[in-house]
Amino acid sequence: MSARALAACACGALSLSAAHAAPDAEALKRGEQVYERCVACHSIEGNRTGPQHCGLFGRRAGTAPGYDGYSKALRDSKIVWNEVTLDAFLRNPVNAVPGTTMGYAGIADPRERTDLIAWLREATRPGKSCRPSR
Ligand code: HEC
Repeated sequence: MSARALAACACGALSLSAAHAAPDAEALKRGEQVYERCVACHSIEGNRTGPQHCGLFGRRAGTAPGYDGYSKALRDSKIVWNEVTLDAFLRNPVNAVPGTTMGYAGIADPRERTDLIAWLREATRPGKSCRPSR
C-alpha cells in the first residue's frame, strides 16, 4: 500500500478496529515483549535513534517533539498513527512508507502486531503512562 493510500484509508477504517474488545492482560504482556524488538532504537519517553513513542496515537507521522532525525518520506506521508496505520507500517515499514529510514524488516505475524499495538496504545498515553520529552 502506498503512503498516500495508507493516509487516505486511515480515517474510515479506524472505527472498524476500534470496535474490537479491550485487550486482555495476557495480550498486553505479549505486546510488551514484542516491543523488546524496538528498544534498540526506541523508547516510550525519549528520543533515541528513533523517535519517542509517548503520545503516538493520534499524532501525525514525523512530529514527535524534539526529534530531528525524520526522513522526508515519513514527514511527507500525511499518516496519522492509529491501529490501522500502525498495523500497515509495522508489517512492512519500507513498503508502507517508501524511503523511510526505519531500518527494521517488520513484524510478519498479525497477532504479534495486534498485541504490540494494543500494548502501545496503553503505554503511550501522554500524561497517564508517559511524559513526552522535548
Ligand atoms: C534500527 C532502529 C529501529 C528499530 C529496530 C525500530 N525502529 Fe521505529 N523508527 C526508527 C527510525 C530511525 C524512525 C524514523 C523513520 C523515518 O523518519 O523515516 C522510526 C520511526 C518509527 C515510527 C514513526 C514514529 C513517528 O513519530 O512518526 C513508529 C511508530 C515506529 N518507528 C515504531 C517502531 C516499532 C513498534 C518498532 C519495533 C517493532 C520499531 N519502530 C523498531 C528506528 C527503528
